[in-house]
Amino acid sequence: MTCAGRWEAEDGGPAVRLAGSADVRRLVAVLVRAFEDDPVAGYLFPGARSRARGLRRFFGTQVQTMIAGAGEVWTTPEVAGGALWARPGTPRQATLRDAMRLAPVLWEVVLGGRASAGFRLLADVERARPTQPHWYLATLGTDPSRQGRGIGSALLRRVLRTADEDQVPAYLESSKQRNVPFYARHGFEVTGEIRSEEGAVTLWPMWRAPRPPGP
Ligand SMILES: CC(C)(COP(=O)(O)OP(=O)(O)OC[C@H]1O[C@@H](n2cnc3c(N)ncnc32)[C@H](O)[C@@H]1OP(=O)(O)O)[C@@H](O)C(=O)NCCC(=O)NCCS
Repeated sequence: MTCAGRWEAEDGGPAVRLAGSADVRRLVAVLVRAFEDDPVAGYLFPGARSRARGLRRFFGTQVQTMIAGAGEVWTTPEVAGGALWARPGTPRQATLRDAMRLAPVLWEVVLGGRASAGFRLLADVERARPTQPHWYLATLGTDPSRQGRGIGSALLRRVLRTADEDQVPAYLESSKQRNVPFYARHGFEVTGEIRSEEGAVTLWPMWRAPRPPGP
């Protein structure tokens, strides 16, 4: 069932809806909690305090930029999780304005002590991204207290349905090996590995070809 701003999963799974500016604070708090133990966040921000600050600033910037029009942000009615997608063909060159918005995050990385290796890892991630137009899953997170109840899947499925309808591929980088089978169940395939210099963290780029149209 589809109605304004709300989409009910056809299989009875959790409902999802587009997020708006009123959701930013709650959504950022959920994403910070979800990514507290993320290996890449731990690598970029080794200290717990700088990690919490860095994640708050990073997701604050990312969620607001996406909601303002750079992408689509999907959440649940009670904001238990979020999927942040960049639309196919969205310009990837960061504008000066984006760089200015991100400056405080970069400062946290510098303070966290991982500046040059961290920036090289982020540059490798950017370089690995395919040039063919695709839906890009920038962030997916469910509140830790609500994980394992189908929210992440419902959030993913919403945009993947559009991707299939439009026959457009999708792409993401998984920062946890544990999530690879989860994404594989949604049709993503691992295309390689991106490793930090000391091998401290690995990311798995995953590509999803659109499902062929049904009969
Ligand atoms: C990955 C994540 C978004 C999945 O969301 P979710 O709402 O738990 O997803 P679902 O309930 O639809 O599916 C659960 C599946 O996710 C995977 N999963 C990964 N981490 C999990 C966790 N901490 N708890 C439960 N399931 C988890 C499992 O494979 C599980 O599959 P299973 O049902 O076969 O066990 C969520 O676990 C999360 O926010 N993790 C922390 C942040 C993160 O890793 N984001 C992705 C970065 S690549």
